Amino acid sequence: MKRTIALVVLVVAAILGVVYSYLNRPPAADLSLNDQVLEILSDGGCLSCHSADPKLPFYMNLPVAGDIIRKDVYEGYRAYDITPLISALEQGLSPMPVDVAKIKKVAADRRMPMAKYYLVHWGSQMTRAKSDIITKWAVDFRKTHYNDGLKGERVGEPIRPIAKSLPVDARKVALGEQLYHDTRLSVDNTVSCASCHDLSTAGVDNKQYSEGVEGQKGGVNAPTVFNAVYNFVQFWDGRAATLAEQAAGPPLNPVEMASTSFDEIIAKLEKEKSYVEAFKEIYPDGITQANITDAIEAFEMTLITPNSRFDKYLLGDDSAITAEEAEGYAFFKKNNCAICHVGPNLGGESYELMGLRHHYFEDRGLELTVEDDGRFKQTQQERDRHRFKVPGLRNIELTWPYYHDGTRATLEEAVRDMAKYQSDAELTDEEVAKIVSFLKTLTGEYKGVPLTNKNKQ
Ligand code: HEC
Ligand code: HEC
Ligand code: HEC
Repeated sequence: MKRTIALVVLVVAAILGVVYSYLNRPPAADLSLNDQVLEILSDGGCLSCHSADPKLPFYMNLPVAGDIIRKDVYEGYRAYDITPLISALEQGLSPMPVDVAKIKKVAADRRMPMAKYYLVHWGSQMTRAKSDIITKWAVDFRKTHYNDGLKGERVGEPIRPIAKSLPVDARKVALGEQLYHDTRLSVDNTVSCASCHDLSTAGVDNKQYSEGVEGQKGGVNAPTVFNAVYNFVQFWDGRAATLAEQAAGPPLNPVEMASTSFDEIIAKLEKEKSYVEAFKEIYPDGITQANITDAIEAFEMTLITPNSRFDKYLLGDDSAITAEEAEGYAFFKKNNCAICHVGPNLGGESYELMGLRHHYFEDRGLELTVEDDGRFKQTQQERDRHRFKVPGLRNIELTWPYYHDGTRATLEEAVRDMAKYQSDAELTDEEVAKIVSFLKTLTGEYKGVPLTNKNKQ
């Protein structure tokens, strides 16, 4: 009798096992990679927890299960909105690189969907076979999307080299360079763009908050202008869509350059004959706000820093970085850093929550400021509070202090705290040192010379 029961249990378990693995089988191989990934994500229930309008299961209405799932849905959507990716896949459009990085990482770690989900929702588990399909898709995407010369196994890396140069009109660049250094853009002729973004100090001022005309202080740390061209939007809160739009801000900002209008600036510039001629040569309508900011944008497109040791490594020179630095890079990827700090600038491709895993602002202890609201300032959407455009990490050793509030004086502190607040990882001093050594390989060249900062930390 006992043996019969045992046999029945075994047979039932075997049948369930077969059903389970049948339900979890990977998508048909004759579908396009794009459609296979779409199927994996749909089967995986990703939309149930990662969208504003989740597809909720029936047990949502049960007391205990309902509470658990409500918490997962809240935290899932807070961490990541998958709807732009799903709709890109559905329409056969190119996904955003940052989405590819995120999906590839959680699939490779087989972290999503979590066990409590796939054990209830049969067929949703991220099996090894499904995870491999996602990796293949991600590598394929990077190969075609970037087309930047990476070869062999490096072709699938989340971090990409900086271009040697970008196509620009040299006359605009020359004019933009002059405007960038011209204090007449400010009300009392004392402040230029370079006052806060000096190129000999790596495009920053190394102050917690910048000082504008009459020593007035702003409320947020100045990011570097180097490689800003790679950002998908400008400013911590993304309020400018382009570099030209950005350049229209500081001249009229009351605590920065404080001019009252572009007419006032134009009247000053028109007094100089060489300006009038230089503008006329490029722009038939002469000196206008649009032409001033267009020229500054052209100049900023030349503020890129290729040829870092890390880029040489990416492009195939294995000896360009040391074993410790390579380990630091591996650590950087392992700790989720490269799901937010992706692409050529290691950032500038998405808005992310500051304090994803722990309460950054509570721990900081300082009073909350308007600037701490981040993207929320622009959208008034609660989900965007404390969400910031991810800063790029190129030349990061030169651009202290760190974070939007300039509260981290050293790169070690910035890295240790990022691991805690964004990745829920507690790093040892040795691990921090390794990541920092990797970050230091990201310092590139400007005009063929290694970028430096004449300020000392
Ligand atoms: C039952 C709800 C739930 C489902 C289903 C789910 N997730 Fe998540 N996801 C979460 C939660 C909660 C978090 C944040 C906490 C955490 O990371 O553990 C998260 C975090 C993430 C993140 C942020 C990165 C990270 O490492 O934290 C990504 C990306 C992600 N999920 C992708 C997916 C994908 C892809 C699927 C489908 C294959 C999926 N998730 C299915 C709840 C879910
Ligand atoms: C008084 C100091 C000051 C002056 C002058 C100034 N900036 Fe800035 N700049 C800042 C600060 C502070 C920020 C960050 C503001 C924010 O994000 O809200 C910033 C942001 C930027 C950014 C965005 C970078 C990024 O990663 O988002 C660019 C580009 C930039 N400035 C270029 C310029 C140009 C061009 C000028 C001259 C027209 C200029 N700045 C004048 C302090 C200054
Ligand atoms: C969930 C996305 C996310 C993850 C994961 C993440 N970061 Fe960040 N990182 C950000 C955001 C957003 C900021 C800006 C925060 C602020 O200014 O308040 C930032 C800022 C930084 C800065 C300071 C940059 C500057 O110019 O001020 C460094 C350095 C940094 N991150 C390194 C790391 C490292 C190392 C890891 C992995 C241990 C990591 N980040 C993981 C989103 C992320």
